Amino acid sequence: MKSNRVLIAIFSLMVIGSMLLAACGAAGGGKIKVGLSFSDFATERWKNEDTLMRKLLEEKGYEVISQEANHDVKLQNDQIDNMVAQGIKGLIVIAEDGAAAATAVEKAAAAGVKVIAYDRLIKTQSISAYLSFDNVEVGRQEALGVMTALGLPGSTTWTKDNPAKVVLSGGSPTDNNAVLVRQGQMEILQPYIDEGVITIVADQWVDNWDAANAQRMMENILTAQNNQIDAVVASNDGTALGELQALAAQGLAGKVPISGQDATADGCNSIVKGEQTVSVYKDIRLLSPKAVDMMDALLKGEPVTGLQEYTLKVLTGEDLEGSIQALFLPVEQVTKDNVYELIVKSGFQPYDDVYRDIPDADRPPKP
Ligand code: BGC
Repeated sequence: MKSNRVLIAIFSLMVIGSMLLAACGAAGGGKIKVGLSFSDFATERWKNEDTLMRKLLEEKGYEVISQEANHDVKLQNDQIDNMVAQGIKGLIVIAEDGAAAATAVEKAAAAGVKVIAYDRLIKTQSISAYLSFDNVEVGRQEALGVMTALGLPGSTTWTKDNPAKVVLSGGSPTDNNAVLVRQGQMEILQPYIDEGVITIVADQWVDNWDAANAQRMMENILTAQNNQIDAVVASNDGTALGELQALAAQGLAGKVPISGQDATADGCNSIVKGEQTVSVYKDIRLLSPKAVDMMDALLKGEPVTGLQEYTLKVLTGEDLEGSIQALFLPVEQVTKDNVYELIVKSGFQPYDDVYRDIPDADRPPKP
């Protein structure tokens, strides 16, 4: 009897011990590794999300390996392969190219790595989840902000005989978000196009969402149109600010309404100065913890909640098979009227950045 009890006790200790070892990752007690793979750090938000996710993951006891691919699709895949070789168990990817990244992600998943597509879709069923914001709504809010600035609906200036000349500036063609954003923009714009009160005079996409590319694109459009443009539906703050440089050179900054997204520090400063018309607030302080909590649950084999199934066909508009689990956080329009309440008071952007170059007398009180 007694030896039986001893045996059971020894066995229980062995079970608990092996569970502890598993929780610590590899035998030997090392921490479980999680990889973060970023397309670039040129857009303000990604560096912030790197810092935030690293902190949250480390607080949960993970070791974090983070890499940035400087817009290089092949480099991003090599970096992912390399992180898998280093033994990561989880991977959070901000893909430069949602189709190309599938190759590395499928290999990672086949090696047992849990993958989350962060903010941008990766076109494969090998991802455990796709976490983002409501990108279609981003596009709607951008177009709505610009149309409102034009006085639409109900404008007496913009009519069938004198339609407003609108430029469409899409994001990076390899980022599925750019497609979703455009879908939302067109939902708002198409009725005005059909009515004949606006006309699209240029429709282009900005490689890498790069501000310098956007500036060059706008310079060419202005030349081709003899500076006769009335509004720009641009897809993020970075590209909008590049385009504003081109507009400013022709004395059009602040005269031609233009949209963006991300509520970046520079974008909000431009809004306060009356140059950028509208941005869209996507609170990364909510998205990053969601990704980290979900990764933690996936790695512990715990149930993951809050996801909904979407077909790849619906998400991409392409003829792709299969479906994935996704979650989209809500977004909010930012204009001169609410930037203080929404962005500054919430601490999303620092007061001094948003009101840079604004005379003290014209600034609201420091929150
Ligand atoms: C993101 C935007 C960002 C853009 C450029 C998109 O995928 O959703 O927030 O501005 O990439 O980095």
